Amino acid sequence: MLIEKFIAHIARKKNAAYLQFSPRVSHTIPRKRSDTPLLLYVHVPFCEELCPYCSFNRVVFDEALARPYFEALRKEVLMYKDLGYDFGALYVGGGTPTILIDELANTVELIKKTYRIMEVSVETNPNHLTDANIGILKEIGVNRLSVGVQTFDDGLLKTIGRYHKYGSGEEIAERLRSTQGKFNTLNADMIFNFPTQTMAILEEDLSRLTGLKVDQITYYPLMVSDYTKGVMSEKVGAVKYGRGREFYMRITDRLASLYDPTTAWCFSRADGMIDEYVVNYEEYAGLGSGSIGYIGGNVYANTFDIVDYVRRIGRGEFPVVAKRECSIKERLLYDFLMKLFGLHLDLTELGRKYGEEADEYLRWEIAFFKAVGGLEQREHILSLTKKGQYYWVIMMREFFIGVNNFRDYCREIAQLSSHSH
Ligand SMILES: C[S@@+](CC[C@H](N)C(=O)[O-])C[C@H]1O[C@@H](n2cnc3c(N)ncnc32)[C@H](O)[C@@H]1O
Ligand code: SF4
Repeated sequence: MLIEKFIAHIARKKNAAYLQFSPRVSHTIPRKRSDTPLLLYVHVPFCEELCPYCSFNRVVFDEALARPYFEALRKEVLMYKDLGYDFGALYVGGGTPTILIDELANTVELIKKTYRIMEVSVETNPNHLTDANIGILKEIGVNRLSVGVQTFDDGLLKTIGRYHKYGSGEEIAERLRSTQGKFNTLNADMIFNFPTQTMAILEEDLSRLTGLKVDQITYYPLMVSDYTKGVMSEKVGAVKYGRGREFYMRITDRLASLYDPTTAWCFSRADGMIDEYVVNYEEYAGLGSGSIGYIGGNVYANTFDIVDYVRRIGRGEFPVVAKRECSIKERLLYDFLMKLFGLHLDLTELGRKYGEEADEYLRWEIAFFKAVGGLEQREHILSLTKKGQYYWVIMMREFFIGVNNFRDYCREIAQLSSHSH
């Protein structure tokens, strides 16, 4: 569809412009300035093997690097305390955070001792859903466990290089079945629009999911960054974004009787489930190598070089190598994107945060999405329509591709500078 292509094009251009900053210099984190509740994001960049479609920040697991890495993470946790910060929620993402469960447990326990954490969310893979790991995750207070599934189709699992690592579709389903009910929220991460994924495969996956009744399903659109494009088309096939709408509509229709959308791509079975933190927390600190934080209207990026990360922390320095100060318009656009990703935006709240003229800044964007049937307004609340939900999937897809492109760029810089030393 033309409008969707247009939205994707504009979102891609805007993201590329926003994410331009020099990643060579050292920066520091300011002392805490406001009482806005913050999220703590902690990144664990190690995986047993690398999936060909994934452009998140991750490397092949090496215990000799991972143990000092976790130690450095714990030091970085305390560095934020020294600056007066407190955090209301913890999200441990990856990579594969459960790769060294004892190190993860020590880190989460330290964070819970240091800050007033109310919720803990951890990402994992199906092969780590063992009784021993589940026992430890429960003991350290994990409320939300998010498991990478992607699909239950054995053929597709083989194509995306996960079958031999995480088991067949049936084995993954069995692991989910035995974990369901043990955490406040068990989330399954799925992906739609793999090049060889057919509508029949998607239908089968949806039947499995509704049969399992997992608490929550996150259905990501396949996102391909510039860096993964080559390996993706060689191993998985060339992606056609135009096919995404049909998949998405089928997903929302099939899940409608059991699940409510809580964001444009997350579906939950009950109220009070924990979902996308970027919607609920306006600001966050990003800890660990390659993490990105957003504090006081500034974006901060930590070094992508793991050895450099450990070294900097060892010297007592913040490992921040890039910083960008966002203008008011950029901050408003960010809130507009994230709040509506969570389906609603309260214009009064926005006015309270940015001043009376806040919606004037967004006049063009609001008018455009109303005109194309993506947004509706009741009094001061803007809400996504069903059409709008898919527009937001496109914009968030482009946002993440932009972030991943930026990461790839930083990674290249990190490699170049480590070669020149
Ligand atoms: C970055 S992984 C980290 C957790 C764990 N290693 C895993 O594989 O689930 C979290 C989720 O991101 C999603 N993801 C990864 N690469 C993606 C891509 N290129 N496009 C869309 N979603 C992707 C997958 O659904 C994956 O489960
Ligand atoms: S999808 Fe998960 S397991 Fe695969 S490479 Fe990415 S982070 Fe690692």
